[in-house]
Amino acid sequence: MADSKQQTRRRVIVLGTGGTIAGRAAASGDNIGYTAGQVGVTELLEGVEAPSGVAVQTEQVAQVDSKDMSFAIWRTLAERCAHWLADPDVAGLVITHGTDTIEETAFFLQSVLAPSKPVALTCAMRPATALTPDGPQNVRDAIAVASSAGARGVTVVCAGTVHSAFDVQKVHTYRIDAFSSGDAGPVAYVEEGAMRELRPWPTSAPEPARQAFARVVRAVRWPRVEILFSHAEAGGSIVDLLVAERQSGAAEPVQGLVLAATGNGTLHEALQAAALRAQAAGIGVVRATRCVQGRILPTPGAVLRDAGALTPVKARIALMLELMASQAQATGG
Ligand code: SIN
Repeated sequence: MADSKQQTRRRVIVLGTGGTIAGRAAASGDNIGYTAGQVGVTELLEGVEAPSGVAVQTEQVAQVDSKDMSFAIWRTLAERCAHWLADPDVAGLVITHGTDTIEETAFFLQSVLAPSKPVALTCAMRPATALTPDGPQNVRDAIAVASSAGARGVTVVCAGTVHSAFDVQKVHTYRIDAFSSGDAGPVAYVEEGAMRELRPWPTSAPEPARQAFARVVRAVRWPRVEILFSHAEAGGSIVDLLVAERQSGAAEPVQGLVLAATGNGTLHEALQAAALRAQAAGIGVVRATRCVQGRILPTPGAVLRDAGALTPVKARIALMLELMASQAQATGG
């Protein structure tokens, strides 16, 4: 069904980026000893029946194990998404992706595109060569979401469940149903090709996203933002080293720090003291909870701002985009 271009039908574009869904193992019984990002997206779609009235076209954007996801691929992917979303004949997009960083890519794309059309990222926990691969059904479900009139925004579609980019998190190392939306819950299920909506589709404002898109496309180098964990006996020496490196005129100095905080956003006192020194030195500092569920509730007298419901990896993307915005403002860009 790949590469069909019938204009009279709803079109869904499937962008391939690699992952286990495109993985190959030497033996069909091997679900972990495979190489990710081997099978082309057009081949992945062979044998996957599209919903009636939907024409599917494929494009290979990258071919990587998503643990190695890069800003360069994110930039290209955002540009290809923007290109296809602007086409009035295109109902929506599907992106095949590795599970390991899919939640980051989903949140990044939501932040820079805020699409009114659906962009459904999908994946697999078993390689394409497995005895019973989960990829084909996930792709089929993602196409159903991408071609549904009611769907909008960036989602992750896996194991019949549609997760919003804002809430999705990988929560299991090998199970087929590896994702959770935590307290918020999924936005929909896909049942035998039909989407059953559970709650309103989370959205974000289009104008800030449009500006963020322009900045990520334009930027020669994206701001360096590191994530550090608070834990028992956590210290501040790594933070101090990063500050010193920045003050010594390093080529790529740290510009932001996300602190993966305990519980409701608390930090080891030594780490907090160092983080305050970093903030005073001009580094952007944000606390995000390392808890899998819940959000940081504001506490009176908090000395470092918090990322609310964002996980540390998503808070890092949000801080990176924020730093780009403030740099553009400072330079009149
Ligand atoms: C990857 O993230 O590319 C490899 C792991 C997976 O897709 O499950």
